[in-house]
Amino acid sequence: MNAPANLAAPIALIAELTHRCPLSCGYCSNPLELERASAELDTATWSRVFAEAADMGVLHLHLTGGEPMSRRDLPLLIRAASGAGLYTNLITSGVTLDDNALAKLVEAGVDHVQLSFQDSLAGSADRIGGYRGGHARKLAAAARIVASGLPLTANFVVHRGNLDRIADILALGEDLGASRIEIAHVQYHGWAMLNRAALMPTLAQLEAATAAVTAARARLAGRVVIDYVVPDYFAARPKACMGGWGQRIINVSPTGLAMPCHAAASLPDLVFPSVRERSLTEIWTGSNVFAMFRAPAFAPESCRGCERLEIDWGGCRCQAHALTGDAARADPACALSPDHGLVVAALAEARADEVVPRRMAVS
Ligand code: FES
Repeated sequence: MNAPANLAAPIALIAELTHRCPLSCGYCSNPLELERASAELDTATWSRVFAEAADMGVLHLHLTGGEPMSRRDLPLLIRAASGAGLYTNLITSGVTLDDNALAKLVEAGVDHVQLSFQDSLAGSADRIGGYRGGHARKLAAAARIVASGLPLTANFVVHRGNLDRIADILALGEDLGASRIEIAHVQYHGWAMLNRAALMPTLAQLEAATAAVTAARARLAGRVVIDYVVPDYFAARPKACMGGWGQRIINVSPTGLAMPCHAAASLPDLVFPSVRERSLTEIWTGSNVFAMFRAPAFAPESCRGCERLEIDWGGCRCQAHALTGDAARADPACALSPDHGLVVAALAEARADEVVPRRMAVS
């Protein structure tokens, strides 16, 4: 399958440096089958991948995991990426980001830090993350980041178990001195899909949260940017996931598998190319798995002719597979999808259980 002649380079590389993490959130974005630490890409290979990304026109590098701070060579990786000309965003839980660690990252050239929080209440946050004392460590890390002069994004993953505290969460983000607050509703892939019934908010919670965000945006306008998107299951139309399959993002797993999104490993029977064997450019322009759902050649059958096709490209391939068993179908989050009843049924099944009934294994 040939790439379209006008295919642009991805704007961002998401580097999942490791699946290791000291936290054990029930909505973790790691795949259900974690890649082993012993099989992770080494420093030289990641550095070569960063150089290839910069050469092909990638601007942003998101260093994530798992917990990227688990990589002892993180300063070396940041130095390599920064030297290649990439803007480096470190996405971390912050629980190990002490003075010494931050100084090394600053010296290596990190440009931005995104710090994740589980709640505004310490007890609840520690319980959700499965890490006692984690919230206090995160607060300290945020203060260090701001004092260093680095821009900070405070990321709050929200769900049924913490959404009632949205006003406190927003206030915490402001108190931290974050330049950006991200209110990220759980996305139902992998571990979150397993725990969906307990994590799904109610409509009343969602409406109250949306109102609180709207008020905070007005209050903080010009000072703090607030990112917030209504979760898929409550939206009438799906999102153009990752900006469209194989259109804007390239994701590399800890062992070097290149994918169009972090959840693509959940799609069966796909063999993803490895950056150990092929360059990033070869993968982007020549890989069949990147091309197979790439618009405009691909469109879900029921989306053809829809006026929104070039807005959302039929939604998320991984969500379509998770809900219908077929990644080529329209995302059932769309009210026009023939499978939308699956989303309606999932909302009806949501129950008021305690959050995080199932934890991922810490490795
Ligand atoms: Fe894979 Fe949406 S998460 S396409």
